[in-house]
Amino acid sequence: MDLYAVFGNPIGHSKSPFIHSEFAKQTGEALEYTAVQAPLDSFAAEVEVFFNGGGKGINVTVPFKEQAWQWVQQRAERAELAGAVNTIYRDSSGIYVGDNTDGKGLVTDLQVNNKVQLANKNILVLGAGGAVKGVLKPLLDCAPKQIVIANRTVSKAEGLQRKFAEFGSVRACSFADAAEHLGQGEAFDVIINGTSASLAGDVPPISGALINADTVVYDMMYSADLTAFNAWAKKQGALQLIDGLGMLVEQAAESFYLWRGVRPDTAAVMASLRAL
Ligand code: ATR
Repeated sequence: MDLYAVFGNPIGHSKSPFIHSEFAKQTGEALEYTAVQAPLDSFAAEVEVFFNGGGKGINVTVPFKEQAWQWVQQRAERAELAGAVNTIYRDSSGIYVGDNTDGKGLVTDLQVNNKVQLANKNILVLGAGGAVKGVLKPLLDCAPKQIVIANRTVSKAEGLQRKFAEFGSVRACSFADAAEHLGQGEAFDVIINGTSASLAGDVPPISGALINADTVVYDMMYSADLTAFNAWAKKQGALQLIDGLGMLVEQAAESFYLWRGVRPDTAAVMASLRAL
């Protein structure tokens, strides 16, 4: 039985063991997937114990994704740019490879599961922290017209603009100035909330005028009810409201694929999670 685990602190809330166990059942892959709460000061030591004990691969979650990025010996390009690693495995020569499947998870959930077009679209991303940095390259790979990054601390959005400008049109601004990057009468086609404001039930202070009846709104958070951001966007008349449950399952599917070379059926697992 091959061993996998998710490392985080805290980790009790993690849905990853459930998701990967479902994937394994579905695909007939013989694996066991557990959750490990690593002490805050000994992530690397715990990971080494896991791999030395025969572990085949791990996921990494809060607060260890940046430490994982530092620790791996080689990084996939999307992980290099994300500045964070959420998936680790060893290659055939035993080298620890770090990847980041979060952006792929978001893009797959948007384009495949929800049939949202991204090519040549105006995309507004709210937030400029780790969650946003992790998804910018895969979003830019979809060739949007532009990505406007609005953040409370504008200098952080500007830093991301500089880092990602070579991959497409990226603009940075405050929440109040986001409309300046739209043409007359335009709204954003897609708005993605990547701030952690939702954790406290807060909504970033953007104008409702950025949303029209064709706007798709995506909150990277998820909850049993509408998230605070999606509830606000609904009131503004958005076309479609999506939360981050699909992203969670799709990033897991991409990790599973990296480890096992098999693509699981994500729709079935999403339905099970919604029903929990
Ligand atoms: P994560 O890994 O979740 O991205 P992070 O790197 O701490 O966490 O980033 C949190 C993001 O949410 C930042 O963009 C932060 O804005 P600042 O850069 O100005 O700190 C944003 N954020 C957090 N709380 C917020 C709030 N109440 N309103 C608006 N933005 C908020």
